[in-house]
Amino acid sequence: MTPTPPPSRVISLWINGKSLRREVAADLKLIDFLHEELGLTGTKFCCGLGVCQACTVLTRSAPTALPDTLLACVTPVSALDGQLIDTVEGIAGPNGLAPVQQAFLAHFAFQCGYCTPGFVMATVALLARLKAQPVPVAQLDAAIEAALGAHVCRCTGYARYHAAARELALQVLRG
Ligand code: FES
Ligand code: FES
Repeated sequence: MTPTPPPSRVISLWINGKSLRREVAADLKLIDFLHEELGLTGTKFCCGLGVCQACTVLTRSAPTALPDTLLACVTPVSALDGQLIDTVEGIAGPNGLAPVQQAFLAHFAFQCGYCTPGFVMATVALLARLKAQPVPVAQLDAAIEAALGAHVCRCTGYARYHAAARELALQVLRG
């Protein structure tokens, strides 16, 4: 017996500022959509279970909204109708790497780099939140831990990622 294909739906969304309208299978995961349909392979697939955070991207409901992090390995793209999604490919500017990427490089935060796109996106979201809702410096380490603490780095770059994020966060808090 031929298996019944999953139902599909037509969605509109923005990926890195580009508007898309596509018919997608209801159960197609965002990471597979990014990799297979858009050729955006910067978002990494690791556990596939919503645990390691390697596949973190950003989502917003409007251009001026604060970004939330989203795990692309467990999120059906069909659930993202109308959302603005940013992946690591959309972070660097026309003049080069984004400040978060530069800070991770300067702090030698990563080795194999597989976890790095997830750390980049989570740190971008953290800095946006701190800019909109500053916290006292005494609470900064806790805020960084809340944002990055669940991310798994098998090369154990945790302290260096934290230091890089802290340096950028202090710049945000001190204006
Ligand atoms: S690959 Fe998505 S959380 Fe691990
Ligand atoms: S740099 Fe290798 S997993 Fe983090």
